[in-house]
Amino acid sequence: MLIRIRRAWDQLREGEATPESVFLDRRRLMKLAMAGTALAVAGCDDAVSGDVSAAPGAASGATAAPDPSAHLYPAKRNEAFTLDRAVTDEQWASTYNNFYEFGTHKQIWAHADKLQVRPWEVVIDGMVAKPLRLAVDDLLSRVSLEERLYRHRCVEAWSMAVPWTGFPLRDLLAMAEPQAGARYVRFETFNNPDVASGQRQPFYPWPYVEGLTMEEAANDLAFMVTGVYGKPAAPQFGAPLRLALPWKYGFKSIKSIVRITLTDSRPVNFWQDLSPDEYGFWANVNPQVPHPRWSQAYERVLGTDDRRPTLLFNGYGEQVAGLYKGLENEALYM
Ligand code: MTE
Repeated sequence: MLIRIRRAWDQLREGEATPESVFLDRRRLMKLAMAGTALAVAGCDDAVSGDVSAAPGAASGATAAPDPSAHLYPAKRNEAFTLDRAVTDEQWASTYNNFYEFGTHKQIWAHADKLQVRPWEVVIDGMVAKPLRLAVDDLLSRVSLEERLYRHRCVEAWSMAVPWTGFPLRDLLAMAEPQAGARYVRFETFNNPDVASGQRQPFYPWPYVEGLTMEEAANDLAFMVTGVYGKPAAPQFGAPLRLALPWKYGFKSIKSIVRITLTDSRPVNFWQDLSPDEYGFWANVNPQVPHPRWSQAYERVLGTDDRRPTLLFNGYGEQVAGLYKGLENEALYM
């Protein structure tokens, strides 16, 4: 059993590749130990080489078969979504991925191409008038793609700036006609341990699940991503369909979605299920609220030497602060 626990005062080293931390609570560790499970706990602060020069074709989004949606890219940029910094170099963004289905290491780009992203269907069900099962290319023919430049902030205090292509989440939900009683949206990733070796680790609560309130899902910033850097998303980015929620910590931006369920009960997400003392439902970025083991006051801008002060809601407060009025008693920032 390998258990790696960092002390709160340990500093992340510059240039380390840092997937999301998983630090299991004591009770869960005991349970796992009693079950005799081999446990490899890897975190955002695990030291992994940040050498992106070694990355081959994965960085360019190359996949074996031509992507049937390639002609839709590049989409027109929506200039309403601008940045206060340079776009992160594509090599960095495409080789510095978190996708626990394919492991806890930083070679995700080399493993995720096992994921067949066609054919691919997404189901929208639950509290909707018109439940849907949509092939992703049919879906793409029903929406209007645009490019948006978004900041992307990991809970582990690194950040990127990414040109995502996609369409507003609310457009997708509208197709299924939400019922009045729906309060939350639950998202689910594929579950295929034959393809995704990480899903053979039984102590993780697969499949990866995330959730939003209906109000959050209707916000203009909530974006369904199908492409990045002007072309269809490569598998390591969460092809063919993922979320981008730039005011929240990165773990909320679930990849490779297969099911979207409208419900009246609050979903428990993947990280919250594993470590509820450290990860919650809301996960809004806030420099004043430290993670239990490290500060969120600053962020390291990947691919640069910049260390910047973290902004409340990652700088998107004007668009989203109103969503949280009256919810001050909730754990909004974990
Ligand atoms: N979605 C799934 N299905 N599995 C994951 O492990 N990791 C999350 C999120 N979405 C994850 C996921 C985390 S922790 C982060 S920080 C972002 O994806 C990383 O997105 P990126 O690799 O495109 O930077």
